[in-house]
This record gives sequence, structure tokens and C-alpha cells, in this order.
Amino acid sequence: MASMDELKKMAGIKAANLIQDGMVVGLGTGSTAAYMVERLGERIKEENLNITAVSTSWSTTLQCRALHIPLKEMGEVSRLDMVIDGADEIDSQRNLIKGRGAAHLLEKIVASMTNNYIIIADSGKKVNVLGEKFAVPLEILPGAIGVVTEKVKVLGGNVVVRMGNPGKDGPVISDSGNLIADAKFGPISDAKTLAHKLDSISGIMGHGLFINMATKVILATPNGLEEF
Ligand code: 5RP
Repeated sequence: MASMDELKKMAGIKAANLIQDGMVVGLGTGSTAAYMVERLGERIKEENLNITAVSTSWSTTLQCRALHIPLKEMGEVSRLDMVIDGADEIDSQRNLIKGRGAAHLLEKIVASMTNNYIIIADSGKKVNVLGEKFAVPLEILPGAIGVVTEKVKVLGGNVVVRMGNPGKDGPVISDSGNLIADAKFGPISDAKTLAHKLDSISGIMGHGLFINMATKVILATPNGLEEF
């Protein structure tokens, strides 16, 4: 049976092979996205493709630089031909929880620039109800942590600031200089309404509920790739 990493790689390769010459593409963050970026780098070299990429994190930017994938700054573009990214939870309607890699704010901005937002993941990410396994990642302006914690509590979420190695690293800080926290709600019965409520809290710069954004999911299962 294929390992989890082999499954992720299958999905990453399949998605990278969808990218066509001349495209401007958004590249997500995480271990599955990294396989897709690796394959894209190979294709650019082997097929002499003219691709420009927009990265969603320093991790992906450094990988692109190492692979000589041409990059544009996020602020230089407003439309992308395709965006490919991973996810932490995926429901049957392609709604997502993202942000275990702390990149969900930039990932959501980049995802909002396309009509072709492809999610790649192993089948362990599929859930019946969002929130079943993971908390909802938040990116919070540091000075707003107190008020955001209180307001999210009223919505039923327990906010915990994400920490690096206990006693060694401090809190996890996003690429934009904000605090990363996780809000545990448990299974979320109405993710769309919760997403709107989180959108309306001043101090939350971004949250990991991605509702009605993904246009295709490529899921790697032990029996092969499934798309929905
Ligand atoms: C980063 C993300 C990642 O895409 C998500 O955490 C999935 O990562 P992986 O492919 O490593 O499981 O949302 O912010």
C-alpha cells in the first residue's frame, strides 16, 4: 500500500501536470503543495515552459527560487489562471479548513484571484463535517489578541495561540507579522455563517475557513486518484 507521502506526491504531480504554457499560477504552501512545486520545476526545465508563479509563503518562495521558477510579487497581479494548494480538511462540497502551515491569509488572497482553484490532498483530509478533526486557524493582529479571544469565545470557539517548540521558540508569527492562533469549535454545523462572523471581527486578519472557493479537489486514495 502507498505511504501517505506517496499519496501526496501523486496528487501534487497530477495537479502540476494541469499547468499549461503561458499561465500565471498561484502556488500554495505545505508538504503536498511542495510536491506540486517540485514537479512544476521539472516541467519548466524539461519542456521549456513559460510560467510565472505567485507564492503564498516564504517556504514556497524559497523552493521556487531553488528550482528557478520565475516569481511575481502577489501585489503585482490581480488575476491568476490557476491556483493549486493543499488543505487540512475537505468536505463533500469542497469547503475547506486550511492553515496548519500558518499561510492561510496569503493563500486565501491568492485563491480569490482565480476561477480555477485546485486542492490537492491525501484521502485522510476528507471529512463529513468541517471542524471534525482540526481547529480553525486564525491570523490575528498581535494587539487584538485579547478582544478577538473574547469575541470568538462568544461564537463557541476556544482560541489558543499557536506556539513553536515549548520553552525554545515563541509564538508562531505569520509571514505578515501577525500572531497565528487556533480556534477549536468542534464539528461546525454551519461553516458559511461562522466564516462570515469571523470575517466581521476586527483584528482577525484571516481565518482558515475557505467556503465555496475550491473548484476541484484531487484526492489521493489508496485505490488511486479521485476528483470531485
Ligand atoms: C498551509 C496550508 C496547507 O496547505 C495545509 O496545512 C496542508 O498541508 P499539507 O499538505 O502539509 O498537509 O493550509 O497554511
